[in-house]
Amino acid sequence: MSRKRVAVLISGRGSNMTALIAAAKQPDYPAEISLVVSNRPDAGGLSVAQGEGIATEVVDHKPFGKDRAAFEDAIQAVLERHRIDIVCLAGFMRVLTAGFVDRWHGRMLNIHPALLPAFKGLDTHRRALEAGVKEHGATVHLVVPDMDSGPIVVQRSVAVRPGDTEAELAARVLAVEHQIYPEALKMLAEGRFTP
Ligand code: GRF
Repeated sequence: MSRKRVAVLISGRGSNMTALIAAAKQPDYPAEISLVVSNRPDAGGLSVAQGEGIATEVVDHKPFGKDRAAFEDAIQAVLERHRIDIVCLAGFMRVLTAGFVDRWHGRMLNIHPALLPAFKGLDTHRRALEAGVKEHGATVHLVVPDMDSGPIVVQRSVAVRPGDTEAELAARVLAVEHQIYPEALKMLAEGRFTP
């Protein structure tokens, strides 16, 4: 079976991207990271990807202003040019329209730093601490038009410890993110996840 061609979409440091690249180096991994796309020219993850010999593209959202569809058409063109099969959102900080999401139905994953459906949106670690939850974690899910929704592929929890700071909790969750994103991509690439 040929390996699926994956694009990782980032906006920042790309530590989840790095975890996916590392996993895909295993000879029996069913996917290869063929492309990294950033909407920010200064995203730290771009140089990491380049250092790994992976193709990178910048599609800056700023020239498109409020025209999300035109921005997404530019991304779509890049994905098609690289013959991408699966898209992984990894800290990609742009809201996607239903039109783009539907094009990638069942073939686009996102990672969210909380145990969905709890704490959708931003500042998940601060909100988890404020809520006093004892368990927090991370979720990889298929992307649907509603933000931070969609069928859950892999989810893993971490304990919230008394006196945790936001940074301590974030670091514990991030370690779990780096485990579960490669697991979820493997399942999807092998056709073992059917919602
Ligand atoms: C991660 O916490 C991810 O869950 C969230 O954005 C952050 C991206 O971090 N969606 P990185 O760029 O992968 O290091």
